[in-house]
Amino acid sequence: MSEPAKGPVGIATSWDPSIYLRYGDERLRPALDLLAKVDADAPARVVDLGCGPGNVSVFLQQRWPGADVLGIDGSAAMLEKARRAAPGCRFAEADFGTWTAEAPVDVIYSNAALHWLGGHDVLFRRLLGQLAPGGTLAVQMPAMHAAPIRALQHEVAATGPWAPLLADVGGAPPILEPGQYWDILKPIAASLDIWETIYLHALSGENAAVQWASGTSLRPFLDPLPEGLRAEFLAAYTEAVAPHYPRRADGTTLLPFRRLFIMARR
Ligand SMILES: C[S@@+](CC[C@H](N)C(=O)[O-])C[C@H]1O[C@@H](n2cnc3c(N)ncnc32)[C@H](O)[C@@H]1O
Repeated sequence: MSEPAKGPVGIATSWDPSIYLRYGDERLRPALDLLAKVDADAPARVVDLGCGPGNVSVFLQQRWPGADVLGIDGSAAMLEKARRAAPGCRFAEADFGTWTAEAPVDVIYSNAALHWLGGHDVLFRRLLGQLAPGGTLAVQMPAMHAAPIRALQHEVAATGPWAPLLADVGGAPPILEPGQYWDILKPIAASLDIWETIYLHALSGENAAVQWASGTSLRPFLDPLPEGLRAEFLAAYTEAVAPHYPRRADGTTLLPFRRLFIMARR
């Protein structure tokens, strides 16, 4: 149950909700931390941008039961899951690079999604412009480009029989530095708060860091490969990653995960 969602910078990625949700609790925590920081009492229109399987849309609906909560995503497989997970919300398939609100929105919430697109200077200005006056843009994105779990994907992709097939795979582009988001948003925001948190995700299971990446950042590298080569690539990546994320005596693998949070009010 996976199919490509293509962003304007050309990242075609298949999304499998069941693999993505494998570490659901760990992925949910920053989403709820972001939601807790949104200062909005009774918004009428809420958008969950890059809603994925709707696992967070449910919490938006719970927090604001009177709101029209609309989940936007580019993956039909994710949306199918979302419609079942959050029957009280509306969902629509769209690319968030070109998505335009039907009417000004009170809260645009986006967890772990916008980093799949480039062009953040244009995108973030555009999103703030979709808000009603006083509305809030709340964003959380992984800031992991330099971490071994991400950097080794590129290194391994470049060396091996799979290299020609992966030559054009860029993966999710690096997000900007926190100060760059400040410079983009400050001139047009009524208020702005930006912060980073490093979560120490405690993962269970074998090759847990690889399992984690298989649900997200590794997908653009796995998709273009035929089955046999995919297994070989995965084995090489697993070997490269293992020393950086050792399984501890108690069976846990610790994955330090840096995330950037942005809260802007129009
Ligand atoms: C890692 S999931 C995050 C899902 C959810 N927000 C959460 O917190 O669990 C990223 C989602 O962004 C979506 N996505 C990526 N690029 C997109 C684009 N250009 N337009 C719309 N959705 C996109 C994917 O389909 C995927 O469902």
